[in-house]
Amino acid sequence: MKFFIDTANLAQIKEAQDLGVLDGVTTNPSLMAKEGIKGQENILKHYVDICNIVTGDVSAEVISTDFDGMVKEGEALAKLHPQIVVKIPMIKDGIKAIKYFTEKGIKTNCTLVFSAGQALLAAKAGATYMSPFIGRLDDVSTDGLKLIEDIRIIYDNYGYETEILAASVRHPMHIIECAKIGADVITAPLSAIAALLKHPLTDSGLAQFLADAKK
Ligand code: G3P
Repeated sequence: MKFFIDTANLAQIKEAQDLGVLDGVTTNPSLMAKEGIKGQENILKHYVDICNIVTGDVSAEVISTDFDGMVKEGEALAKLHPQIVVKIPMIKDGIKAIKYFTEKGIKTNCTLVFSAGQALLAAKAGATYMSPFIGRLDDVSTDGLKLIEDIRIIYDNYGYETEILAASVRHPMHIIECAKIGADVITAPLSAIAALLKHPLTDSGLAQFLADAKK
């Protein structure tokens, strides 16, 4: 399973990269705004800065909602760096844009997926990644992990190569359950990835070993 970090914070991206288990980065306009990145030039530079920290795919989201706008923006993003994946919302023109980029050999990440039907459309359009938001489904009393299970079955039935990128991951159990189901990728905040490290028995066991080593 690939691990992506879901942030535009360069320090956190560096920290995850230094851990040696990072496969990529996802961003969105809200995460960019959270870091105070404003203005087209700064936004584009920030994507390049992220690409220069990591070795894997970096999702950069378009903000246009019409086909022509998404194509123009996506082509500019893809030209920035070979690691850029154009992130496109799950709307009608988004599906058309994903198909267009797929035919051009440009990687895409279909975002804001909340149903199996949307996931099926993204795969048929040839999306490289398809991002179901599991935490936001949980927020509205709908089982986000059940959606990942359903999509896994559908994609396996037909051998779709689109990777299931579980997004809106909030805690380590989301990551573990996604791994059990067979999500191809999770994107999570650093806190959820780092939480996988922790177990109180590891801490107490290590403390005992170090104490005994001094005897
Ligand atoms: O990758 C999508 C993610 O950024 C959304 O996460 O926590 O805002 O639902 P969240």
